[in-house]
This record gives sequence, C-alpha cells and structure tokens, in this order.
Amino acid sequence: MVRKEPCGYKFCMRTLPLLAPCLLLVACQGTNASPAPWLQTPDPHSFARPAQVRSKHLTLNLTLDFEAKVATGSVTHELIRDDKTAPFVVDTNELSILGVTDEAGQDLAWDLAEDQGEWRGRPLTIELGEKTEKVLIQYATSPVSEAMQWLAPEQTHDKEKPFLFTQGQAILTRSWIPLQDSPAIRVTWDARIKAPEGMSTVMSAQWRKRRGTSTRFKMTRPVPSYLIALACGRLTALPISGRCAVWAEPGMIQRAATELDDLERMVQACEELFGPYRWGRYDVLFLPPSFPFGGMENPCMTFATPTILAGDKSLVALIAHELAHSWSGNLVTNATWRDFWLNEGFTVYLEQRIMEHVYGVDRAVMEIALGMQGLQQELKELPEADQVLHIDLTDRNPDDGMTAVAYDKGAAFLRRLEQVFGRERMDKFLREWFDEHAFQSLTTDTFLAFLDERLLSTDEKLAAKVNVSNWVKGYGLPDDAPIPTSERFHAVDAAVASFVANTPANEIDTVDWVTQQWLRFLSGIKSPTPEQLAELDEAFAFTRSGNSEILSAWLAIAVRNGYAKADARLDLFLMTVGRRKFLVPLYQAVLASEGGKERAQSIYKRARMRYHAISQRTLDELLDYKPGA
Ligand code: BES
Ligand code: ZN
Repeated sequence: MVRKEPCGYKFCMRTLPLLAPCLLLVACQGTNASPAPWLQTPDPHSFARPAQVRSKHLTLNLTLDFEAKVATGSVTHELIRDDKTAPFVVDTNELSILGVTDEAGQDLAWDLAEDQGEWRGRPLTIELGEKTEKVLIQYATSPVSEAMQWLAPEQTHDKEKPFLFTQGQAILTRSWIPLQDSPAIRVTWDARIKAPEGMSTVMSAQWRKRRGTSTRFKMTRPVPSYLIALACGRLTALPISGRCAVWAEPGMIQRAATELDDLERMVQACEELFGPYRWGRYDVLFLPPSFPFGGMENPCMTFATPTILAGDKSLVALIAHELAHSWSGNLVTNATWRDFWLNEGFTVYLEQRIMEHVYGVDRAVMEIALGMQGLQQELKELPEADQVLHIDLTDRNPDDGMTAVAYDKGAAFLRRLEQVFGRERMDKFLREWFDEHAFQSLTTDTFLAFLDERLLSTDEKLAAKVNVSNWVKGYGLPDDAPIPTSERFHAVDAAVASFVANTPANEIDTVDWVTQQWLRFLSGIKSPTPEQLAELDEAFAFTRSGNSEILSAWLAIAVRNGYAKADARLDLFLMTVGRRKFLVPLYQAVLASEGGKERAQSIYKRARMRYHAISQRTLDELLDYKPGA
C-alpha cells in the first residue's frame, strides 16, 4: 500500500526534531519507507524501476587505461527491495558487461537487452536471490562511451599528459557506470580509481585520499546519477579560502585562481540568501577547452571551461551559476528531465541574485537584460511545444529541453513572483523550498503545490497578479515578464545608432565600457558592410579579443558578412574550443555565408575529432555529417 505522505524530510522533521539531518536521511532511505511518489512516476529516460528495486549506495572500482581509452573494473550496488520478486534493472550504454555476482560472490543471472535506439542504451536486467542485498557488476567502458572524453596531450593546456573527463548530465552516466540513470533516484557512493603515474584524479566527492596511483573518494549525501563525475590529468590546486580551491593544469593555475578570487564571497552571498552550503568544500576545476559546456555543477567540484578566463572577472557569472546549483539542482533536484526548469530556471535566478550581491545591481541588470534578449531571439525559432517550461520530452532526447526556455523563462517566472510578492517573502519562500526538500528529487507539480501553499494562498490579491499556469504551461513569453532596463545599455544603444548613421567608429566614446556593454553593442550591429567591419576592427581590435564571449559574437558577425580578415581567427577558434554554445552559432554563421556549406563541412571534418561526443551529436545534425562517410 502506498502511504499518502512519504517518509520525506518534512515528515521526519516533525516527528524526530532532535535527530541530526544525516541520521534523518538514513532513516528516510531505510527499507521500511515506502517509495516516494516521484519514484512511482515513470521516467521516460530510464529503464530502471525504482519503486520495485533501487540502488541506495554504490561503490566504484575502476582502472583508467589512457592508451586503450577505456575504464575497467566494477560497480557494487546496495539495494532497497520493495518488491522482492522483481529484478534489478540498470541502464547501460556502450558498456561491456563481464559478470554479475551477489555479496557472497555467487553468479547472478543477467540479461543485456538489445540497444533500444538513439540515446536509450541497453537495459541490464539482473535476477536477484531471495536474500540478495548487494550486486557487483564487472564491466568495461568503450572508447566511444559518450560521457567520457579522452584527450591527447596536444589538446590540453600544458601539452604534457593526456586528460580524461566525464560529463554525466543528462543521461550519459550510463555510458561509464551501469546504474539506474534517473534523476529521481539518489545514491550515496564511494570510489577507488587507479590512474597512470604522474596524473591526478578528482571526483565530485566530499572526501578524497590519494595513495600511490590510486585515489579514493566518498560522497555521503544522496545524489542523482548525473552528478557523479571524474577527471584525470596533470592537475594542481590553489586555495582561495579554507573551503574553496581552484584546480587546473599547472600552466593555467595562476590565471584561474586570480579570476576566481571572489569565489568565497560568492559562496557566502549564496548562504546568506538561501541557507547553508551543505557539501563541505566548493572547488572549481578548469578543464581543457574541448569541454562541451560552460560549466557543470558536479557536487563539491564544478567543472568549467577555460574560456571564461578573460582576465578581468567579466565572465564569472558562470561560476555563480554552477555554485547556485549547490542549492537548486544538487540539493533539490528535478525528478525527471521534463522538470529541468526547476534546476536551471531556479539556478539562473539565484545566479542573478549572487551577481547583484557581489558585483552590484548594474552588472546584474545587464546580465539579466542580455539573457532576456537571447530568450526572445530563441523563442522566435522554437516550435510552440518547446516554449513551455513543463515541456513534454517523452521519446525525445532530454538534451532537447536545454534551451533558454528552461533557463531564462524559468528565471523570469521567479523574478515575476519576486516583483509581485516582494523580495522578503520571495526569499523566505525559496529558503523553505530548499530547507524542506533538501536531498530530494521533485516534480513541477510538487513545486506548484508548494508555491500555492506557501506563497499564493497567503495573499490572494497579489496571487491574482501572476498567471502561474500560463507561465508554466503556456507558449511564448508572458506579457508580465520583468525585463529590467540598464543605463549602461542606453549609452550603448545610442552608440550603435550613431555608428549606423555614419559616425566613425573611433569617435564613439567607449572609455568605461564593460564586457556586457560590448556584447550589447555587437548584438545591435545588423548587416554591416565589410568596410564597416574593417572600421570596427580597426577601432576596437575585436579579432584579437581575449574575451571568448566578445570574440565569438564578433566572429559570427564577421563570417556572416564576409569580413575575410577574421577567417584565420575563426579557424583557430573552431579547432581549439569545443564549447557547444559557441560552436553552434559559429557554424550556423559559416553555413549562412557565401559558399558556406562546403566551408563549414571542411572545417568540421578537421575539427570534429577534437570535440566531445555531446558537441559532435549536435553538429553532426547541423552540418549533415555522416560518421564514416
Ligand atoms: N547543468 C548545466 C549544464 C547541462 C545541462 C549539461 C543539461 C547537460 C545537460 C549547467 O549548469 C549550465 O547550465 N551550464 C551553462 C552555463 C550557464 C551560465 C547558463 C553552459 O554550460 O552554458
Ligand atoms: Zn545550470
């Protein structure tokens, strides 16, 4: 029988107020608790059946082989079995399963199904004995396991040692660990990783201990599978504060640490606003430039692209974002990928609050305005069904939901609530959301019920000002979306207008312009002539910019409008940077230029092997690339 209220954190807080939260968690996870409602909701992106059998802890034991580009070893799952007759089903993708045993070393019968197509992978079904509590799976990854990118030394900053990193979100962890790959299922874990001499291994763990060529890790908080991550390379660390450090290759570490000088201040800002940081350390690891994302919020250690190292802290909002996920995403997690906006919309909102707190209102407002500009642009191109926060992703790759809708429309919804109810009530509401759902995975419906109970129903007059169902289930951008205006942008817009009206570029007053203003400026330059582009480049040296955001925006304009002097820089950029957010608009711009298709395909042919599988997947489609052809 299903109890109405699961043994969740809230329930325990009421009945066992004196127990430490960690004890509570153990109690809540115990075999006696009936599965939480989100475990009963089917996840279309996993074959796991957690309401029957689920993993509560896993132990990873792997050896990394950089020559063969494979990891081999085992994972042991500790199980909660609510249905004693049901098998244990885990997700796999491109894995070789070598054997399955129970805690006594007895072989268990297993079946690895055919590949289920596209992103689904192959479910591994394991028959359990009556008393089986642990299952050990012996396996090997393959060189094409999508989560893993194995880099040659030439692809790293220092060019001395190879490098490996994993990227689990959304459903790629199954390509390096056989596990129940659904964000609704949380596990604690530990690991032992063996790497070649001279390499350091790090993971998204609270605890790390190195012994010879082996490193052990432990995560004592239950996390969803997509947050298990590993990196291995020639790495070093520099402390920023007692609990914060920056990790990078030695040749980059100083630059990285200087850029993230404010890291501890950011964590403190977030704690002040949204409650305690519950993960112990907060470190940031800078990866080689092929990393397909800007950042990934792996617990205790954010993975970041080196392309945010601009030298002037102008792109650190990305770190504020990944840090904010320590609350929205890692502490309170989307239960399925259709609830992705609960992770990202909340996180963008928190990010904006951190930026305001640490760098001031002006900076925050400009960043919000740029985000809204991007959202409005993207909404013009998205089909209506993809414009809703609570998007239907059945039979689709969860990656399809990774649009500005989840991010910027989600954040705008929270800003609207803040605008109507005021900051004080909003902050209290958010804090309760995090505190009362810590270490849980939740659906949009749960959020809406909580919103109703804690905010809307407390003031019906105010509540009437927000059409919640339109925000969550409607298309487009609601009319009441708050879009702040920036004084600094007014100056930029005036400059764009006068340039278009033939004022020479070198007469524009740009003395105290910051990065966000340059980005606004470039977004305002529509269909320039090659001569105008040459003039701009002469005046502002865009082609030589060391700021990746400015450079990539400029390169897209340059190639679209036939400014050949930027071609060499574009080639170099596409050959070294693998960040999808930059690659897509740049390849699109090449495609749109004269003779563009051939040119784009020829660059891509050379660059493709340097990109992570995630970027490859997107670009193969954009560029009509057939692997092997
Ligand atoms: N969690 C995301 C990255 C992600 C989302 C990876 C979905 C795979 C699937 C991360 O927090 C993120 O949003 N990164 C952004 C940066 C941010 C400042 C908007 C990125 O990488 O561009
Ligand atoms: Zn994010």
